[in-house]
Amino acid sequence: MARKKLAVLISGRGSNLQSLLDAAAAKDFPAEIALVISNKPDAGGLARAEKAGVPQLTINHRDFGKGPAARAAFDGALSDALAKADVDFICLAGFMRILTEEFVERWRGKLINIHPSLLPSFKGLDVHERMIEAGVKIAGCTVHFVTAEMDAGPIIGQAAVPVMPGDDADTLAARILTEEHRLYPACVKLLAEGKARLTAKGVVEFDSDVGAGAPLLNPAP
Ligand code: GRF
Repeated sequence: MARKKLAVLISGRGSNLQSLLDAAAAKDFPAEIALVISNKPDAGGLARAEKAGVPQLTINHRDFGKGPAARAAFDGALSDALAKADVDFICLAGFMRILTEEFVERWRGKLINIHPSLLPSFKGLDVHERMIEAGVKIAGCTVHFVTAEMDAGPIIGQAAVPVMPGDDADTLAARILTEEHRLYPACVKLLAEGKARLTAKGVVEFDSDVGAGAPLLNPAP
């Protein structure tokens, strides 16, 4: 079967992009990275794409100005680039822009994100600080389909990690990030194989051979 084409959208260092590039380097991985797009010209992840020989594009949101019309125009430019590259799935990987409802609707079922908490807890920004402050004992990460409401889309997979005594936001972030790098490729694999999908009703459906609750890392089902 032909490999599915992925776009990865970044704004920063791109360590999750790297995990997807590494996974896709294996010939039996069911997807390839066809395009990397950054909204920031100085995103560290762009060098990762270049090193891997993957086409990359910067669409600088600042070039579009401010306000709703600028936001729509930026998302339109993103959509055009994604359509031109004929991608099957779009992975947000530290992409720090809120997408318009039109964009999200257009790519429904193809647009996924990784978030460094066990959603629906701790949506939004400064997640690690807030988890430390709240004193949670179990943290983790989530891969989910993107819907118009931020960090609220149907969940594809999760991985849990303990919060240790003495942790600060940085040590916790590092522990979660290690799991992000396992979880994102695992979820992309299921989607690209067609073993997981977003239904018309807006829930995630898995083939029966995927196993109970999978992909669930730490603890494995
Ligand atoms: C990750 O923690 C991801 O969960 C969040 O943004 C961060 C991006 O890190 N959405 P990187 O750019 O992939 O290293």
